[in-house]
This record gives sequence, C-alpha cells and structure tokens, in this order.
Amino acid sequence: MNAPDAARLPAAAATPHVMNTYGRLPFALSHGRGCRVWDTDGREYLDALGGIAVNTLGHAHPRLVPALQEQIGKMIHCSNYYQPPLQEQLAARLCELSGLSNAFFCNSGLEANEAALKIARKFGHDKGIERPEIIVYEKAFHGRSIATLSATGNAKVQAGFGPLVEGFVRVPLNDVAAIEEVANTRPGVVAVFLEVIQGEGGINATTTEYLRALRRLCDERDWLLMLDEVQCGIGRTGKWFAHQWAGIQPDVMPLAKGLGSGVPIGAVICGPRAAWVLGPGNHGSTFGGNPLAMRAGIETLDIMQADGLLANAATVGAALVAGFERELADSPGIVEIRGHGLMIGIELDRSCGELLGAAAEAGLLISVTAERVVRLLPPLILTLAEASEVVAILAPLIRDFLAAPVTSE
Ligand SMILES: Cc1ncc(COP(=O)(O)O)c(C=O)c1O
Repeated sequence: MNAPDAARLPAAAATPHVMNTYGRLPFALSHGRGCRVWDTDGREYLDALGGIAVNTLGHAHPRLVPALQEQIGKMIHCSNYYQPPLQEQLAARLCELSGLSNAFFCNSGLEANEAALKIARKFGHDKGIERPEIIVYEKAFHGRSIATLSATGNAKVQAGFGPLVEGFVRVPLNDVAAIEEVANTRPGVVAVFLEVIQGEGGINATTTEYLRALRRLCDERDWLLMLDEVQCGIGRTGKWFAHQWAGIQPDVMPLAKGLGSGVPIGAVICGPRAAWVLGPGNHGSTFGGNPLAMRAGIETLDIMQADGLLANAATVGAALVAGFERELADSPGIVEIRGHGLMIGIELDRSCGELLGAAAEAGLLISVTAERVVRLLPPLILTLAEASEVVAILAPLIRDFLAAPVTSE
C-alpha cells in the first residue's frame, strides 16, 4: 500500500476524522438565538450569513422550535409508499405563493436541480428530441453532483471531475443576442436553466428585461424556463421568489436552503407544462418529503407571513445597502454594492478572502464569494438595529483592508 501523500493531508485539523472538503475558520459554533450565535469558548457573533441563506428565522426561533419538537414526537420519517398529508399541505402553499401547480420534494439544492435537469431531458425525449440540450450560464452555480457541477459555470468547481455531463450550452448572463443565436443554431435545446440572482457567482442579477425576453423565447420555442431559486428564493429579496419582481412565471423552480429554516429540504415546483413529465418510477428520494422537513417548511412559511418578513427583508436590506454606500463612499477599491433585499454583495477590486477571518475576529459572520465579493445573507428576521451593527463592524474592516498595500492577486 502507498504511504499517504503528506502534501494532500490537512495541516493541523481540529477534526481529524472529518474529510478535508472545506476551508474552515478556527472555531466551532455551539448555539444561537435570533441573529446571534456563540462559539464553544462563549464568544458572541452577529450572524450576517444565516448558514448561507438557510436560517430564514434565525436560530432557535420561539415558534419553530416547539413545532419541530412536537413533530419529532409524532413522526420524523415515513416512506413515500404512503399518502403524505404534510407534503400536500406544503406543496399547496408553495403552489399558491408561486402560481405554479405541483411540487416534488427532496433534501437539498443540488437534488432539486437534478430533478429539474431530469424533467428538462425527459420533456425533450417525450417530444422526440434524442439528444436534448439545456442552456446554462457563465458564473452559474447549481451544486456539486456530477450533473449540477457540469451545469455550473465555474472551472474550479469542475476541475478534477471530468468527464463532465454533456448536453449543456453555455451563454453569458443578460445577453439576449447570445441566446437568440443559440435558438437559431441548436435545434436540440429544450430548456433554459439559470439563477435569477447568481449567488456563488458574486450576487449577479438577471435584468427584468432579460427574464421577460427568456419567457417569450421559451414560449415561442416550446422550451422550459427553469429558475434556480435555491439561494434567492423564499422571501430573501422581499418577494416570495426573486423572479416575481419581473412579473413572469417559470415552468420549473428548484428551491432548498431557506425553505426549512435549517432543516434539510429541497423542492422543485412546476407549472402545467412540466408538472406531469415525470411519472411513477421516473424519480424519487428516500428522505424527500419526510414529515419533519415538511413541518419545518410549513412553519417557516407561516411565520414569515405572520411576521411580515418579506417587507422586513426589503426594508432592512435597503438600510444595509444605504449604510454601506454611506460608509464606503470614499473607498476607492469598492467596485459595486449590490443589494436585493437581504441578498447583498460588496464587490472589491481585489481578492478579499481574509475579510472572513477579520470579520469573525470582530464578532460578525459573513461570506466572501467569487474571490472579490463580500456577501451577506442574514436571517430574514434581522432588525434595523442589527443592520446598523453589521455596517458598524464591517465597513471599517473593508476600509482598512482596502487601505492596506495589496499583498496578493
Ligand atoms: C443557486 C444554488 N443552487 C444550488 C445550490 C446547491 O445547494 P445544496 O448545497 O443544498 O446542494 C446552491 C448552493 O449554494 C445554490 O446557491
């Protein structure tokens, strides 16, 4: 047997039995309440990351916790062999909120996207297209399974995992001419698949005009419009789903992250053109639609509605952006501050991964994506006072970082 390659082993892991798949900060979180979390040494942090857009209701929400406790006492899991009343209840809510007609439940974002990709391919096969193609985007992120990383537009995510899944045609975002060119040259296209706001790619939004043009093109060409709202959906932008700002509807919408407020869940919601493409035996999931996840989804939507969290996301998000614009106005290294409710990106003119650790040192949890974009995805319960605190901690860190000599690029 070969000796382990020392260069491939983690330097000083505090978790030697956990595989080395993440670059982690050197502390462990133990518990939380609202938008505050504490580490195992008792240090407090303000959470402006929300588990990467997952903790919609923050931590230990006083109405979510007892509801989940009650559900655990009744039933956590049962197989999809039986009628699922809680699945029906959550599916009906999601259909009502989206104007779509049917839902399939799974456990994560990539699974929701896998289901969408299968629907697109079978939609094509059902109309006699043997080698269906799906239009995908530069800088997109759809997950880390072999199919979803193939749809992803990031060479780093794909590196080392070839051969990639075929059947994807890639175009730049917001470029109508590019997609019309594909329409005119690729007869096998069956669907367009994109994030309404690219999250991992750096908080890049599709324009209203572009989304409307896509809807028109999909109708003309009999393509499916598939909008990945895994990160930007579930109230984050101030509407239930980000595409609703453009007044259009998709045919297929994958969801996950914030839908269960921390309990793993995924869903793909379909309109009438896509809802009956898959039949018994075409797709499934052991855990998908389990009663605990369904209850988490139902309670999350109920609490969001009762507490006006869509309006809160819009108001507090606007206050955050205004605060950063004010505090960072004179910093020459700021490329752009982009905000869509509580999905906020501050793009710098240089790589800024080290801000993650600096913010944590200062008691704030954030993310950096696409190397140069500071990203905030706080719980939708964030208050105006907490937003001011986020700005007060983060803006000086960014200013100091930009004022320091550039050490790497
Ligand atoms: C837009 C989008 N789609 C899909 C995924 C994958 O979701 P998951 O990590 O739950 O598989 C992510 C995760 O960041 C995402 O942002």
